[in-house]
Amino acid sequence: MINLSDILNANILVVDDQEANVRLLEQMLSSAGYVSITSTMDPRKVCDLYLKNRYDLILLDLQMPGMDGFQVMEGLKAIETDSYVPVLVITAQPGHKLRALEAGAKDFISKPFDLVEVKTRIHNMLEVRLLYKKLETYNNSLEQTVLERTKELLQKDQMLILQDRLVVMGEMINNIAHQWRQPLNTLGLVVQLVPTYYGSAEFSREFLEENTEKAMELIQHMSQTIDDFRDFFKAGKEKVAFSVNQAIARSLSFIEQSFTDHKIGIAHHPEGDPLINGYPNEYAQVLLNILMNARDALDENIVDDALITIHSFAEGDRSVVTITDNAGGIADEIIDRLFDPYFTTKGPDKGTGIGLFMSKTIIEKNMGGRLSVRNTGRGAEFRIEV
Ligand SMILES: Nc1ncnc2c1ncn2[C@@H]1O[C@H](COP(=O)(O)OP(=O)(O)O)[C@@H](O)[C@H]1O
Ligand SMILES: [Mg+2]
Repeated sequence: MINLSDILNANILVVDDQEANVRLLEQMLSSAGYVSITSTMDPRKVCDLYLKNRYDLILLDLQMPGMDGFQVMEGLKAIETDSYVPVLVITAQPGHKLRALEAGAKDFISKPFDLVEVKTRIHNMLEVRLLYKKLETYNNSLEQTVLERTKELLQKDQMLILQDRLVVMGEMINNIAHQWRQPLNTLGLVVQLVPTYYGSAEFSREFLEENTEKAMELIQHMSQTIDDFRDFFKAGKEKVAFSVNQAIARSLSFIEQSFTDHKIGIAHHPEGDPLINGYPNEYAQVLLNILMNARDALDENIVDDALITIHSFAEGDRSVVTITDNAGGIADEIIDRLFDPYFTTKGPDKGTGIGLFMSKTIIEKNMGGRLSVRNTGRGAEFRIEV
């Protein structure tokens, strides 16, 4: 609340062309306990004074020569754009009241002055004014707090995206190592052939060219793997149209090898080729998260014919991808918490619990789609709609 001493310390400006009136008002104010009173008999100075001092209250006479109270209010309105100007109009003519209100006056005191009326109106108006000021500062600091909190949250989101990317990246580095082992071995053999055959009858220009070509093909393939990998880690800034089936094929190429090693089959059944307008790399990140989870589930619940089935099709103007496994599904007690940040049933060295949370953020917040899960009876089915 506003206490009395704040009110009595408020800055007040008295504007009246007649010295007697100015003195009378000053006297009334100081006898009521007000301590910060300024006065002027020149209406043309009011705007400058207000700009410098931002008074809490202006007692303004309406009828003055040269520039009347209405003109003064016009000027004040032009300089005070953020807030209102606390003008209390002094008038002898009741007919002026409406016009003064329209010009921006907040209240009136009538001439001849009535001591009680003047004191009460000034007190009330200052109380409102100070409350308003307090509210303004409060609002500003509230806005500041909200801004800061939002920034913190955004940064946290950003960190989670990175953390999830690191998990996926670690997975992919493993796969690159995997994908390179075979061509590297072959490349080694090809290179060793050259000195072995040198000098023998089979060593010819054709032999040399054939082997060089083979080596170049292998190098080309390995270089392509690295390019794909690097492209994946460029975060998309602008939405682009991309093919769902291509996104799936690309994601599968990153991880196929490790799934084969785990004896997990993957079957993709495309129907048509729906397009998405969005972020292809982020979309692939979602696919990889879901596929990696299915692999983990299949590793944990060993089944004979471990299989992940992917369907892609269009439904109205939406693209739908479902990824189904046969690892037994998700317990009812936890299925509602699956997309919560940090929710994981895996050991601390295996799970972070952010994969599905991030995936939901990417699909729903960034691309306006829907990501959901259900049990099929044999396993879990994730459905991505964009
Ligand atoms: N296909 C699935 N089958 C069974 N449980 C799953 C499957 N996919 C996800 N989950 C469950 O959801 C949890 C959260 O997944 P996720 O957010 O990717 O975190 P993380 O993989 O690090 O644990 C997993 O710990 C697992 O319990
Ligand atoms: Mg995961």
